[in-house]
Amino acid sequence: MISGRGSNMSALIEAVEATDFPAQIVGVISNKPDATGLETAKNHGLNTAVHALKSYADKTTTDRAITANLEQWGAEIVCLAGFMRIVSDEFAKHWQGRLINIHPSLLPKYKGLNTHQRALDAGDKVHGATVHHVVPELDAGPVIVQQEVPILPDDNVETLENRVLQAEHLLYPAALAKLIRTH
Ligand code: GAR
Repeated sequence: MISGRGSNMSALIEAVEATDFPAQIVGVISNKPDATGLETAKNHGLNTAVHALKSYADKTTTDRAITANLEQWGAEIVCLAGFMRIVSDEFAKHWQGRLINIHPSLLPKYKGLNTHQRALDAGDKVHGATVHHVVPELDAGPVIVQQEVPILPDDNVETLENRVLQAEHLLYPAALAKLIRTH
């Protein structure tokens, strides 16, 4: 599930296409109709769907429609890949153990937004990314894998974000494979 450019989604697609990966992708859902990642998914022949909050009465109804869509596609695991809206508690509970997210920090540090700026402001020497299970509490579920990334003296938000993103692109397929193999 994506909201924007979907570079982590692309990393998952490439992992599935390139190697003997233990998963297939049944489709990509966006909450934003203009997410550029939707085009990428279509170019790879994947099912896509848009479920925007404004198309439904409320978040719970939206997320029920997403669950119905995912189950119709036969999804067994749901990967949030830059899905920038907090899911409903009901959705998190329904998919618990099968719903994972990638977050650009070494959780439990820097839950929420602006993680790179906050790591720079704190004077941290190390930053990173985490793939974790999603639970109703934001960015608080059990960690599956983490990758540290150095913060260099001249870093700004953009250079740090790019370095973390490169790490994310390796981390997410590894985390998904680990989840499947240990299940
Ligand atoms: C990624 O850095 C991801 O970790 C972050 O948004 C970016 C999405 O990029 N996710 C979050 O901050 C979730 N709280 P992408 O669309 O290119 O994958």
